[in-house]
Amino acid sequence: MWGGRFAGGPAQALARLSVSVQFDWRLAPYDLRASGAHARVLHRAGLLDDGELTAVLAALDDLSEAVRTGSFRPTVDDEDVHTALERGLLERLGALGGKLRAGRSRNDQVATDLRMYLRDHARQVAARLIELQQAIVDQAAAHVDTPAPGMTHLQHAQPISFAHQLLAHVHAFARDVDRLRDWDRRAAVSSLGAGALAGSSLPLDPHGVAVELGFDSAFENSIDAVSDRDFAVEFLFAAALIGVHLSRLGEEIVLWTSREFGWVELDDAFATGSSLMPQKKNPDVAELARGKSGRLIGALTGLLTALKGLPLAYDRDLQEDKEPVFDAVDTLLLVLPATAGTVATMRVRRQRLAEAAPDGFALATDVAEHLVRGGVPFREAHEAVGQLVAWCVAHDVGLEEVGAEQLAAINPRLTPGVRSVLSVQGALEARSAPGGTAPARVREQLAAVIERLHRD
Ligand code: ARG
Repeated sequence: MWGGRFAGGPAQALARLSVSVQFDWRLAPYDLRASGAHARVLHRAGLLDDGELTAVLAALDDLSEAVRTGSFRPTVDDEDVHTALERGLLERLGALGGKLRAGRSRNDQVATDLRMYLRDHARQVAARLIELQQAIVDQAAAHVDTPAPGMTHLQHAQPISFAHQLLAHVHAFARDVDRLRDWDRRAAVSSLGAGALAGSSLPLDPHGVAVELGFDSAFENSIDAVSDRDFAVEFLFAAALIGVHLSRLGEEIVLWTSREFGWVELDDAFATGSSLMPQKKNPDVAELARGKSGRLIGALTGLLTALKGLPLAYDRDLQEDKEPVFDAVDTLLLVLPATAGTVATMRVRRQRLAEAAPDGFALATDVAEHLVRGGVPFREAHEAVGQLVAWCVAHDVGLEEVGAEQLAAINPRLTPGVRSVLSVQGALEARSAPGGTAPARVREQLAAVIERLHRD
């Protein structure tokens, strides 16, 4: 490609370090589309005549088909996707194939290709996120009236509707979809026409090319166009946060399926066994969702670190942008459907959840708030109920097992009426302020979530 300036070929050690075609080959369809747009621009600029344009476009079509079927493959001598495809074009067109190099560089090509690839795949990730939300929503719809223990610090805190807990995860994934859409607006800028870094002396039409390739606009600064990888970093942040959300859901599924919780039973199709212990049923999908968040976070920090300190414009370090991005896409497209399937098919053990809901003195707040409604300052109510709980712990009984006389003996504030609020159902219904866990509010929330999901 630069034979004129060089007397000899590259050392094998350099070639082995430099080659990227083994991972950037997946950009081939985008590179070919960009080449078609570039050919038309050269034609409009009078640099390709009608016959040449027709021949170049036919060769690009033929090459696309050969790439698609696998009959054209990169060889060990191809450095990257761009040089491999140029070889394919030269094989088809002879010297005419070389005309396409005019006015462009691999620097603007690769930045454009990667943006095209990512915009495409961000849409796929968003579609899988919507399917996952749907799976969670379907479970939530069946469990609005299933009371469950609500936890803070992984300790029983207050009873909640199990649907409320499930929907909390849906809100996180909905923000992820929103984030990807938002990201796309900034990613929709074409770099093609920036050349190596300074733009071109040829009468190119970066805006026309941008529109043809589905971008909203073309670069405003050719140096920025070839050196900016914000779009990749931002995508990796969105991916890492999706990973963290998947990991938190995964961790809950791991807990819920444990014998100690026993809230959920996995479908056989989404659980694994043990080669040694015949009884085992393991939540591997949830664990892999949790584990793979590590590599997504690693991809983000890896690229940020690679970019830090790079002088403008293009530096070869930028070639390191692709593997983390591809790995993040692959990881999400594996984990999201498996997680959706796990959630869609899991069986929630309603009875066990309902029984566990009041455990751990989870209705203590309700007692305190009952006293407050009777005019007791919250501070004193808190103190009185704290004494009640301590007495129950010492005597190994539940709040509801303490008689009226004993209540008064523990603290005179504890009138017999406190027993009236010792119901999980009552505790749920009482939390009826907007966004709360009262089943009526959760039903409204569910309806709003479903409506948004259908819009998405
Ligand atoms: N494979 C390179 C990359 O991914 C393409 C650009 C190479 N440009 C250069 N001037 N060496 O960044």
